[in-house]
Amino acid sequence: MKPEVLVTRELLPEAMEFLRGQMSIEVGASDRNLAHAELLVKAADKKGLLTTLADVIDREVIDRAPELKIIANCAVGYNNIDLAYARLKGVLVTNTPGVLTETTAELMLALILAVLRRIPQADRLTRAGGFKGWALDFWLGKDLSGARLGILGFGRIGRAVARRASAFDAKILYYDPVRLTLNLEKSYKASYLPLDDLLKTADILTIHASLTPQTYHLISRERLLLMKKDAILINVARGPIVDERALAEALAMGKLWGAGLDVYEREPEIEKQLLTLDNVVLLPHIGSATYATRLRMAMTAGRNLIQGMHGERPDNLIEAADELPSN
Ligand code: DGY
Repeated sequence: MKPEVLVTRELLPEAMEFLRGQMSIEVGASDRNLAHAELLVKAADKKGLLTTLADVIDREVIDRAPELKIIANCAVGYNNIDLAYARLKGVLVTNTPGVLTETTAELMLALILAVLRRIPQADRLTRAGGFKGWALDFWLGKDLSGARLGILGFGRIGRAVARRASAFDAKILYYDPVRLTLNLEKSYKASYLPLDDLLKTADILTIHASLTPQTYHLISRERLLLMKKDAILINVARGPIVDERALAEALAMGKLWGAGLDVYEREPEIEKQLLTLDNVVLLPHIGSATYATRLRMAMTAGRNLIQGMHGERPDNLIEAADELPSN
């Protein structure tokens, strides 16, 4: 039977088995992301697409696929999809919210601690024979306990980070376009600050916003300069929210103490200067990368796809109300 669905890149085995049991599918590639030109060709005769955040689903892809009913993105973020155009064309778009919240928050905590205590750098130094014996003033980092943690984007993941950081006795500050009720603020022990005040106050800034035209370079060169010289910035959301070149320059010039990045402006490319700096910890977009969570993401995307293909309302249909800038 002619495949009705394109899974752009092979998923985990259990998810592939589940999908194959439900419908006839074509897999774009087993171990790489499709080039846009390939995507255009492979998507053209399909009714459903199961995509990853590396697939750019723009007008061209949607226009070339006149039978397309649903795009099920295997990610909570969906900035890779022209949502407005898909809606205009009556194509459903879904994402995978909720299932990766705790895993991503755990990585955020790991990255905060890695930057504050310079753990990857300490490991490199130790392996290179740099441990010459205990010394009172050797390798001095910073505490999370007592630090002012500024959370930019207080959605699911931002709140999960707040819960964890509270256990470390960090003071929780947040900015979100939608302010929480006083009761919720109290339950998270979180205080609201306008964005620029958050930047001026935070010892640690963590970013949890969605990438939208409004959040592109939200952390601009000018805003980076509002931050304290001994502050750190951590981004596990989307790279283009931060002006990556300006961040590298700020780190190189000592205008920021450190940074931890899991995401980049032009993935998989990384601003060259960042690679030369010792006050930044760099990860390869692994915020949600545990087997259990990636399987939950794939199964969620698969279920959304099947529901859409059957003319049902998918569980995670993205609606206008979801277009809030926090994941
Ligand atoms: C997402 O789901 O948007 C994440 O970036 C994937 O880890």
